[in-house]
Amino acid sequence: MKKQSIWLENFKNQTKKLDTNEECDVLIIGGGITGLSTAYHLKGKNLKVILVERNEIGSGITSKTTGKITYLQELIYSKLYKEKGKEVAKLYLNSQLDAIKIVTNIIKKEKIDCDLEQVKSYVIGNNLEKEKDILKEFNIKVFEDKNAIFVDDTYVFHPIKYLVKIKEILENNNIKIYEHTNIIEIKNDIAYTKEYHIKAKNIVLACHYPFFLLPLLMPIKGYLEKSYIASISNIENKKLSAITSNNPTISLRYHLNNLIYLNGSHAISNHQNEQKNFDNLINEIKKYGTFDYIWSNQDIVTNDHLPIIGKINDSLLIATGYNTWGMTNGSLAGKIISDLILQIDNKYTDLFAVKRDKSLYEIKNILNEIVRNGKSFTLSKLINNKKWYSKQVQFKAIKNDKVGIYIDENNQKHIVYNKCPHLKCGLIFNEFEKTWDCPCHGSRFDMDGNLILGPSRYNITYKKQ
Ligand code: FES
Repeated sequence: MKKQSIWLENFKNQTKKLDTNEECDVLIIGGGITGLSTAYHLKGKNLKVILVERNEIGSGITSKTTGKITYLQELIYSKLYKEKGKEVAKLYLNSQLDAIKIVTNIIKKEKIDCDLEQVKSYVIGNNLEKEKDILKEFNIKVFEDKNAIFVDDTYVFHPIKYLVKIKEILENNNIKIYEHTNIIEIKNDIAYTKEYHIKAKNIVLACHYPFFLLPLLMPIKGYLEKSYIASISNIENKKLSAITSNNPTISLRYHLNNLIYLNGSHAISNHQNEQKNFDNLINEIKKYGTFDYIWSNQDIVTNDHLPIIGKINDSLLIATGYNTWGMTNGSLAGKIISDLILQIDNKYTDLFAVKRDKSLYEIKNILNEIVRNGKSFTLSKLINNKKWYSKQVQFKAIKNDKVGIYIDENNQKHIVYNKCPHLKCGLIFNEFEKTWDCPCHGSRFDMDGNLILGPSRYNITYKKQ
């Protein structure tokens, strides 16, 4: 059993690091589906485009998804209808239908071999009446089954095979891609790594959690949701994907002869015993057969259920907050952001705008987020030494520094600062994946403190004084 996403198996990638200062028309920060889709729509437009990625393309959130391309998204339309009105619900539906067209058209046009399959998409639960009625009102052909509704015009694919090919297309179109290139600061129109900088007329934050903004802005716009996923082999492919509408969330799809099974989503500030969270998943899936891959994912869930895609100011753009539907919304974001840069009208710019009208529901949710942030911060300072850790994990103070120590199977000590560089929360050791995880806004570090996932921009490697 491998503790990694199935999508990263056989992932071969040639990388190039930024090794000089650069200047360009558009700098895209983030090499996931959003960043590469944006670059794809900007190719051939007489613009100098550069994309940078902290690790390798697709290795962040895109590699950890279930890879569904669907507009049937739990109870999204009833929520939007109730909280924002019919027009917003309808527009969101149209945006998702368009997103599906965008990504499937690219796959067909570029002949991308990424295991694209048209499948039925199910929502399963006992609270589906309204969702079904709204979809029918919007002229969607929706079918009913026992405790379920489904549609038959949705897809699944292999997200990394898709991105690898898009990367090749971009490079063939003179778009420069620098991997292992960590932007640590943006000042006006210049983005800085430790050694170099890139000056750009437009900068696109396509990096999941936008860590260059006011640090407290994102924490009140939503929260991070963690989920646990496994891939089980030798399963008959039933040509469908499904998700539950009640708790606990179970989401599944088939990939060739594998079942991809997600179980147990929760806000990252809750259920911090990661070994237990993985054990729960393992107990759930072992009845289905042998699982070969197991991993976790983190999604941003926004207060008003809508992604945030648009301009922060004249030169800074952002796309994030996909509410667990990253493959459709990331593909859509690529089109919207590129249209904004190219000054092409796009009918979804107002719907997803960074500054948009708040409903009463959202205002209530913002208050909840403020409370949640305070609670996570306080709890994060109290969670060290929880009984669930094995003897391999220790927490200490060395001089004035709080550190976390993991002792590996060879008795080697790995010491890190136990303070998240983002907003100073204490870190949890995830014994299953051997990572230090922040329970506040989801930064992750390997056992030696090297940054895996933001919003932190910095490592937590302990330096002896
Ligand atoms: Fe925000 Fe750690 S404090 S990610």
